[in-house]
Amino acid sequence: MKIAVISPSETHLQEMGRLLELNRHNVVLASGDKTRIRSVAEQDAPDLILVDGLCCDLADLALVDDVTAHHPVMAVVLLCPTQTPEFLIHAMRVGVREVLPLPASPEAIEGAVNRVAAKLQGSSQRPTGRLLAFLGCKGGSGSTFIATNLGFHLAESRSVLLIDLNLQFGDALSFVYEASPALTIADVARDINRLDATFLAAAAVNVAPNYSVLAAPEALTQAMAIKPEHVDAIIKLALLHYDFVLLDLPRMLDTLALKALDRADKIYPVLQAGVPGIQNAKKLLTVFRSLGYAESKAEIIVNRFEKGGDIGFSEIEQSLAGAFVRTVPNSFKEVNASINQGRALLESSRSNAVSKSLADLASTLIPQVEDARGLLGRIFNSKG
Ligand SMILES: Nc1ncnc2c1ncn2[C@@H]1O[C@H](COP(=O)(O)OP(=O)(O)O)[C@@H](O)[C@H]1O
Ligand SMILES: [Mg+2]
Repeated sequence: MKIAVISPSETHLQEMGRLLELNRHNVVLASGDKTRIRSVAEQDAPDLILVDGLCCDLADLALVDDVTAHHPVMAVVLLCPTQTPEFLIHAMRVGVREVLPLPASPEAIEGAVNRVAAKLQGSSQRPTGRLLAFLGCKGGSGSTFIATNLGFHLAESRSVLLIDLNLQFGDALSFVYEASPALTIADVARDINRLDATFLAAAAVNVAPNYSVLAAPEALTQAMAIKPEHVDAIIKLALLHYDFVLLDLPRMLDTLALKALDRADKIYPVLQAGVPGIQNAKKLLTVFRSLGYAESKAEIIVNRFEKGGDIGFSEIEQSLAGAFVRTVPNSFKEVNASINQGRALLESSRSNAVSKSLADLASTLIPQVEDARGLLGRIFNSKG
């Protein structure tokens, strides 16, 4: 593990350095006071920063707050000769992992370092989830409806988390759940240093077996405090623990959305068969190309598609040359009833044409293990 030690005392630095190197850590020693924490975090990017001499003034904790907000996975441990309960509470609130008494015994330091290492190991697992991003080409295209309801189909055989990234006006939870959420993404962002699988699962609303929704904040002011790096850390963690992570994205390509799109395995721009939607889909495809995304990364969904409408399927395909286009039919009465009741469409009507097309979409995302087994069986049987 890479560990940085900041101390005004040369003796402390050398002692800590020796101890940590003995335990085979990669150590950076920074001589100076607490104000170095930010530059050390930026320049050395350690996994853990041990700070000696930041222990009296509550105002100093703003220095830590700044670091933990910008580097959510970096751990900060303070070494303090005296600690008031008030200081400890504030320290935890800004994301300090532990406060050790000074002088600290080698065992106490090793213990703290090992706890940070254990947590880090957990978070350095390889992500196994697939990230699917949904965004409307125009307001009211149906991207929230499709994302939230696809979740139910995927959750029939996989674990699913939907994250509402319409931070200011997100309404995804209301499509599938009748009550208000106890916690939202704003609570997770505010306590980002506590982020782990348990906290994430507790903050999300369980809307069906295997299916949870991390709701958008209730108040606009809370949305503003959520930073792209918070969202990135949440997505990264979610991909370790859920088979599918669905993002309901806003119609604005800002830093937050671009980070999410970069990470996505699939992007589904949703539009309705009309000129404005098609124009915006073209714009998006141009951006995706300029970002170097593979053509297969985006699949256009033409929602509420009706045969015999003004603009036909082949016309849409031609205007969006090169893109894969799928359609979801129109079913105003049933779709609206399901949204108004905050219930899954497949619950009220599995045979509905929209449910069927979402089931088709889900089946393109879930490897058909049974089919593959059947195929293998046939091959072996024919050989035998
Ligand atoms: N396949 C569909 N058939 C009929 N109505 C639909 C369909 N999909 C969405 N809608 C309607 O479109 C409205 C807007 O959908 P929404 O998901 O909120 O769009 P967006 O998130 O793109 O702004 C919904 O309230 C619903 O009435
Ligand atoms: Mg929406």
